[in-house]
Parts: sequence; structure tokens; C-alpha cells
Amino acid sequence: MSRQYLLTVLAVLATASSINAQILSCADVECPITKGITSATCTVVDKIFNAVGVVPLEYIGDDLKGLSWTKAVGAVDASSDREYDQSFYLGTPLGVRLPASCAVFFNKVSDRVRFGDDDPKRSKGTCNQAMTDGCINALIKRALEVDLSGNDTCEKLQTEFLGNLDSECASFATGNNWVDVTAVDLVGDGSPQPIDSHKNASSDCWPTSPKNNDLRLVHSTNSTGDFGAETMVKHFFGVTPILTVFFPAGDNEASVSQAEAQLTCIKAIDLTTTSNATQTQAEGTSDAIRGSGVSMVLVGIMTVVFAAMLA
Ligand SMILES: *[C@@H]1O[C@H](CO)[C@@H](O)[C@H](O)[C@H]1NC(C)=O
Ligand SMILES: *[C@@H]1O[C@H](CO)[C@@H](O)[C@H](O)[C@H]1NC(C)=O
Ligand SMILES: *[C@@H]1O[C@H](CO)[C@@H](O)[C@H](O)[C@H]1NC(C)=O
Ligand SMILES: *[C@@H]1O[C@H](CO)[C@@H](O)[C@H](O)[C@H]1NC(C)=O
Repeated sequence: MSRQYLLTVLAVLATASSINAQILSCADVECPITKGITSATCTVVDKIFNAVGVVPLEYIGDDLKGLSWTKAVGAVDASSDREYDQSFYLGTPLGVRLPASCAVFFNKVSDRVRFGDDDPKRSKGTCNQAMTDGCINALIKRALEVDLSGNDTCEKLQTEFLGNLDSECASFATGNNWVDVTAVDLVGDGSPQPIDSHKNASSDCWPTSPKNNDLRLVHSTNSTGDFGAETMVKHFFGVTPILTVFFPAGDNEASVSQAEAQLTCIKAIDLTTTSNATQTQAEGTSDAIRGSGVSMVLVGIMTVVFAAMLA
């Protein structure tokens, strides 16, 4: 292990454990509220979401301050099942030039990837809580050991993770290998572009912070499930690990001087400005009211889904 590499890993770990467990919700980014209920209906271009989570990336350098990931989840009912859309957006300060970089999404992980035993609808934390330091280190090490030069870096990363499951991460995969890993090139040909004001005309929501960020739709997955509440909670509020890898590339002016990888564990949070107000009011009164406040939020999301089905 080279010294420089070790220093990179240590630097990443140091920042990873020092940041606060902060995932912003619809209450923070002020998603529009669905009429008559407490849940959100957040339209971004042609997608409609009911819950979001926003997590800042760690400090990479002065030229790259303020990047963040947003996970936004929506659901539509078909006749026999419910279809979920989980979409991932990169938030960047206006005009930032991205260095060569890939985002690696671990779309399918085991139920052990969670923030403790807290209510999954509201739970938040960092990767140190959702996984283990050993697994985080192994993922970062593996990414930085891939030959990141050349044109097909993201493909190489995807192949590397699909073919190799580190023992430290074994309990976080659903089988003997990672499955459903997607790596997206953030700057190459055909890479995701910021949503421009023309495309944005249909949006009523901008789930990022600060509000003047650009947003790029980087990745989305569709899944289906039955109509049960448990299925809904799992699809809406599951944790997705995203490994963001920045690497030097000669022809990129914004290039970083050495490769860096960081893991973000992101999930949507069941909180809106209205449900927060309801909950805050309930705090001083009885548990019964507080309890019903929370289940109302779930009912709220379900109502949206049923309304969408009838429309
Ligand atoms: C929730 O409500 C409390 C009390 O009004 C407020 O202090 C807090 O900032 C709100 N949280 C969010 C995320 O909006
Ligand atoms: C990368 O792509 C460019 C343009 O398509 C090509 O000129 C260059 O040789 C490629 N580099 C490598 C290492 O494959
Ligand atoms: C897109 O629309 C939303 C909602 O109207 C707005 O908050 C946001 O600033 C807009 N962004 C761009 C880039 O036009
Ligand atoms: C997911 O489903 C929506 C609506 O049915 C569709 O517009 C979108 O293209 C699908 N996305 C993927 C990644 O399949």
C-alpha cells in the first residue's frame, strides 16, 4: 500500500467521521405540500416525488465546495402492483466545473444497511452507522486500486464491484456478490447535464440546498411491490450507498491532483414542513396524538398514491 494512498484513505475517513449525521428532508428544502394532507408532492421536470433526502458531499477542495446528493422517491399504482421511482440528483453550486468523476450506485443492498433501529421513515445517519468502517474502507480502497486512467473508468469501476465483494462488506450484500451496481460517468460524453430553465418549466420543486444549486439527474431505478405498508416503507425509505470517485484526467481543467473516493449513504426522510409542524405541536401533548401524527404521514403518502391511481 503506497503512502500517498494511505494518506488519502485516512483523510477521507477523518472527514467522514467528523461530519454530523445530517440528511435534509422535504421540510428543509420546502417541497410543495399535497392539498389536504401532510405529505409532499414534488414535481421535478417529469417526475413526481413524495419524499426526499439531501446529503452534502465531504470537502474535496475549494474549487469543489458544496456538492450534494439528493435521493427522491415517488410511487404510482398500477392495477396489480405499485411502481416506485428512486431518482438520484447531483446538486452543484452554479457554474462549478466537475473534475473527471464517476458515481457508483449500490442499488440493491441487504436490510442490514440501515441507521440503527430507529423508525426507518425518519432515521438518518452516516455510512459509519449504516455499514461498518471496515466495509467503507474496503470499498474506498478497492475503488482507488482500479486503474482510473483511460476513457472507460466508470465501466471499470462497475465491473470491479460486480466481480468482487470484500469480506468486510459481506453482510451488506444480498448474496455472494454485489448485484445491481451502476456506475455513471459524471463528466464524459453523454453525461448528465444540469436541468435548464426550459426543461424546468414543469417543475414546482427543487429538492436541493442551497436553492440556487444546479441539479443533474444522474441515475434512477424503477421497482415494483405489493400494496402493503411494509413494502412501501422499504421502497421509500431504504438506504442507498453511493461511492463518488474523483480522479485526475489530463484533458479536464477542473482535474483533481489525486484520486479520491467517498461513500455517501442516502435515504429519503418522511418529513415535510406540515408534518413537522403537526409533530412539533403534538410534542407537548399526549403520545396518542404524536403517534397518530406519524401514521398520518404514511397515510398521507398512501393517499397520494391512491389519488394518482384514480387520476
Ligand atoms: C420543525 O419545526 C421546528 C419548530 O417549529 C423548527 O424549529 C424546525 O426547524 C423544523 N424543522 C425543519 C426541518 O423544518
Ligand atoms: C479516449 O478517447 C479519445 C477520443 O475518443 C481518444 O482520442 C483517446 O485515444 C482515448 N484514450 C484512451 C486511453 O483510450
Ligand atoms: C426550477 O424550478 C424550481 C421550482 O419552480 C425553482 O425553485 C428552481 O430554481 C428552478 N431551477 C432552474 C435551474 O430553473
Ligand atoms: C421508470 O418509470 C417511469 C414511469 O413509468 C418511466 O418514465 C421511466 O423512464 C422509468 N425509468 C427507468 C429507469 O426505467
